[in-house]
Amino acid sequence: MPEGEGGSEHSAATDELLQRARARLAEAKTESALLAAKAAFLGREGEIQKQLKAIGALPKQERPAAGVRLNFLREEFEQMFARRREELRGETVQRRLQEEVPDITLPGRTSGAGALHPLTLAAERAAGIFAGAGFAVADGPEIESDFFNFTALNHPPDHPARSMHDTFYTGDGEHLLRTHTSPVQIRYMLAHRPPLRVIAPGRVYRRDHDATHSPMFHQIEGLWVDETVAFTDLKGALAQFFRAFFEDDKIRTRFRPSYFPFTEPSAECDIRRGKGEWLEVAGCGMVHPRVLAAGGVDARAFRGFAFGMGVERLAMLRWGVGDIRLFFENDLRFLRQFSGE
Ligand code: DAH
Repeated sequence: MPEGEGGSEHSAATDELLQRARARLAEAKTESALLAAKAAFLGREGEIQKQLKAIGALPKQERPAAGVRLNFLREEFEQMFARRREELRGETVQRRLQEEVPDITLPGRTSGAGALHPLTLAAERAAGIFAGAGFAVADGPEIESDFFNFTALNHPPDHPARSMHDTFYTGDGEHLLRTHTSPVQIRYMLAHRPPLRVIAPGRVYRRDHDATHSPMFHQIEGLWVDETVAFTDLKGALAQFFRAFFEDDKIRTRFRPSYFPFTEPSAECDIRRGKGEWLEVAGCGMVHPRVLAAGGVDARAFRGFAFGMGVERLAMLRWGVGDIRLFFENDLRFLRQFSGE
C-alpha cells in the first residue's frame, strides 16, 4: 500500500477499514448479505465515502496520498467483493447438491422402459406376416362417410344389413365412426391400380359392450385383387396366416357359408387348435363386382378376395385372455405380462 508521508492517522484508518471490509465480506453467507456489505462500504453513505470527506480536514500535503489510498481501497474492495461472490455461488451450488442429491453414489432413478400394448403387438405381428406375403399396409379415417362405410360396399340406403351394425352417427347424419375397416378397400382401390394386395389395420366402433365385445375394437382388413384370384387363394392365404400367427402348423381352418353384402360368395372363417373348440376369427369372401366397380376396378378384368378379422380376438386366442375389457382398463399388472413379447 502506498504510504504517504505523514498522514499516518488517515492511513491507519484505511488499513483498519480494509480489515473490516475483508471480515465483513467473509461473514456474508448470502448474496443479499454481500450486497448489504457492499452498500456499507462503497455506498453513498458508506465508509469509503466518509473517509473521502475526511480528506478535506487533512493538511494539504497529505491529501493526494490519502486520495490514492482510498482509490486503492475501493479497487481492492471491488475485487474482494467479486471473489467472495464467486465463492458464495460455488458454495450455494455445493449446498444444493448436498441437499437435493443426498448420496450421489445411490443408483439413479429410472422411469422404466415402456412396452407395446398387446393389441399393438398382435396387429404388428399380423402385419409382419402379411408383409411377408407381399401385402402393403394402408389406413383410412375413423370418422367415415356413410357412403364409404355402407353404400360403396353394396349396402344401398335401405339395405337391412345396415342395421346389422348399430352405429355411432355424427350429428350430420352422413358421417359415422366406421363400423368396420372395409371402407379402406374402396379408398385403396380408388387410389391404386390393380393388381392390389393390401391390409388395413385400425379402430372400428359399434354399440356393443360385454365380456367379448367392446364399443371400440380393432380389425385388420385384407384385399387381394388380380386377374385370376380365386376362392382357393383366399383359403390358402388365411390358413397360412393362422399357422404363422399362432405358430401352430397343425392349426385347422374351416370356411362356413355366410353373407356379407360386399362379397359373393361370403364365408366365416373358423380355426381350431388341438382338441379345442372351433372359433370364428374372420369374415371373408370374393369381392362383389359392384364393390370392385365402386372402387373403379373393371370387374370383368379383375377379381378379388377380401377378409376382415378382429385383432382383439386374435390377441385373446394367442395369449389366452378371457375378457376383452382387460385390454382397455390400463391395469399394469395385466399389460406388463406382454412386455417380453
Ligand atoms: N367388415 C366385416 C365385419 O366387420 C368383416 C368382413 C367380412 C370383411 C368379409 C371383409 C369380408 O373384407 O370380405 O363384420
